[in-house]
Amino acid sequence: MAREKSWQDALPLADLLKGDATPVTLGTRELAIFDSENGITAAYARCTHGAANLCDGYFDGTHIECPLHQGLFDARTGAARAAPARIALRMIEARVQGDMIQLLL
Ligand code: FES
Repeated sequence: MAREKSWQDALPLADLLKGDATPVTLGTRELAIFDSENGITAAYARCTHGAANLCDGYFDGTHIECPLHQGLFDARTGAARAAPARIALRMIEARVQGDMIQLLL
């Protein structure tokens, strides 16, 4: 039976890289928290095309570009926007509680 998801503290709000992608490791999960133009969003950080951490790529406030082959993802929805990326990112619900960013995992 699948474990029920719960909100977990992920990153103090003060540590969020402004207008950028912040890498966070929770247990064995490598995650990315985006300070996007539409607010804070989060996803699993590994590119769906290969073994790159998207936090090492270029983020323009809306799209994150993979550092390995320049695949492009919408950091608000996870949608793949440019080849060779074809599979959407797995997004994670994020919220701010006090001075902490929490993720639903
Ligand atoms: S590993 Fe990200 S586009 Fe290839």
